[in-house]
Amino acid sequence: MTPRPLIAGNWKMNGLLRHLTELEAISGACAGMGEGKDLLICPPATLLSASAGLLFGKAAIGGQDCHAETSGAYTGDVAAEMLADLGATYVIVGHSERRAGHGESDADVRAKAQAAWRAGLTAIICLGESAEDHEAGEKLRVLGAQLAASVPDGMSAKNTVIAYEPIWAIGSGRTPTTEDIANVHDFLRQNLAERFGKEVADGVRLLYGGSVKPDNAAEILAIVNVDGALIGGASLKAADFVAICRACP
Ligand code: G3P
Repeated sequence: MTPRPLIAGNWKMNGLLRHLTELEAISGACAGMGEGKDLLICPPATLLSASAGLLFGKAAIGGQDCHAETSGAYTGDVAAEMLADLGATYVIVGHSERRAGHGESDADVRAKAQAAWRAGLTAIICLGESAEDHEAGEKLRVLGAQLAASVPDGMSAKNTVIAYEPIWAIGSGRTPTTEDIANVHDFLRQNLAERFGKEVADGVRLLYGGSVKPDNAAEILAIVNVDGALIGGASLKAADFVAICRACP
């Protein structure tokens, strides 16, 4: 049985109170849509509480990052437990913007995924190769290393989602070919099966992220071993996000 698809929006550092109208629109349009798929919005932390109320029963909410510790003197950070306290059920960890902009290593990402599990959240662990790695033919080697070092022992289909986001495709309007996405997702599934066993690997959702838009969503979401999408820019507008959700079989 293939995993239940997940369509997830990552608002990144976008969204003021007045933009909650987009979530109201998503909530209205998504009534009944969540029967064959799961929907998720990861707004900025400042909007999590309001989002939880607006999307209740229609879409899940998630954080965009968490600290590895439960509490303490970590100014500006948010613990996984705090996200769960607001009603979040997912948290993105290891996004390339965190890896690059905040110097997060695979070990940091692994610790954050464990923190997510500790708080009862599903960790969306992000992986992706740079343009240089892509052009040098190093993609699978880089992804294999990230997967091995970022995913903790104890992964299950319930506590983890893997998101493949080629860095060069994020926000660029460029996407890999469907064949390339299929090859990477096959590789990830196979790699997970070797480490965690086929049953666990087959149940884990593998998302594609990077310039997913309403006009390419159907093609990307139809690829074998693509179990959903992680969407940045196009998740900010309700009409686009809803169109992508509708494109998901
Ligand atoms: O996490 C989502 C992401 O990085 C993709 O962003 O704007 O290319 O859809 P975007």
